Amino acid sequence: MSTAAALPSGIDSLSHRERERERGQDIAPLLQVDNVSLEYRTPERVVRATHRVSFDVHAADRFVLLGPSGCGKSTLLKAVGGFIPPVEGEIRLDGQRVTHPDPDRIVVFQEFDQLPPWKTVKQNVMFPLLASRTLGKKEAAERALHYLDKVGLAKFADVHPHQLSGGMKQRVAIARALAMQPRVLLMDEPFAALDALTRRKMQQELLELWDEVRFTLLFVTHSIEEALVVGNRVALLSPHPGRMRAEVNSHGFSLASHGGAEFQSTAQRIHDMLFEEEPEAVAVP
Ligand SMILES: Nc1ncnc2c1ncn2[C@@H]1O[C@H](COP(=O)(O)OP(=O)(O)OP(=O)(O)O)[C@@H](O)[C@H]1O
Ligand SMILES: [Mg+2]
Repeated sequence: MSTAAALPSGIDSLSHRERERERGQDIAPLLQVDNVSLEYRTPERVVRATHRVSFDVHAADRFVLLGPSGCGKSTLLKAVGGFIPPVEGEIRLDGQRVTHPDPDRIVVFQEFDQLPPWKTVKQNVMFPLLASRTLGKKEAAERALHYLDKVGLAKFADVHPHQLSGGMKQRVAIARALAMQPRVLLMDEPFAALDALTRRKMQQELLELWDEVRFTLLFVTHSIEEALVVGNRVALLSPHPGRMRAEVNSHGFSLASHGGAEFQSTAQRIHDMLFEEEPEAVAVP
């Protein structure tokens, strides 16, 4: 199979539409981020985190937001999660404006401590299903075991989080999110705190899981390599405040192409695009 070169966004969205048409599906994007500016307001000042960012995520996309630290990636994810309202623009899921958090959008964070330690692994996965009254106890337990099996942790259902490694805890967090069967799974640097080998393994597993479940993923990272491996589409954000710089089609890359010439040249091109702007002059007091 030939490896697809990185293409401008227009070409990518065209191929998307073609694929959707072939399947006879509606071509409307699942998630639309439309001209969205996000700000933090403190009594002293206003910090603009993103400036008029737009992108569309289609069903079963693995859409990656890539950009340097502080460019507003986490803030964008929180806004899609419904935790921060845009000061400008709109976020829509299935054409409906996002105004609050909802189980149709679940976030997996970077931190290993996102699992309440007093609950067993299975109870952790069951908890949102029960709290949101999505399922009764018996069905929640069955679904929890189903997704724990998918992440290879069925045997660990009855242990507590402190008995797990960092990678295993992240697998539990992923199982817990997938068990809710969200319309969009939001991941904020979920593997950033793992060692390099475990990180690669988790990337591979996430792709295998996607092959099986075909969930829609919005994934945040500041690693160019991770973006190319995990994503089928990568949005590049400029440094603070984040603006859309470009979109790259990365569906031809996988862990197997990591290190290959085309992978390296695309990674280099992305690096150049991300950092091409001259650094702003530093104000001297
Ligand atoms: N609670 C907050 N109050 C005020 N400013 C904030 C707050 N959280 C983030 N910011 C600012 O908003 C901007 C975007 O932050 P954000 O955390 O979204 O960046 P990021 O791209 O996720 O960075 P990183 O890769 O380091 O996680 C930064 O300038 C940051 O200082
Ligand atoms: Mg962040």
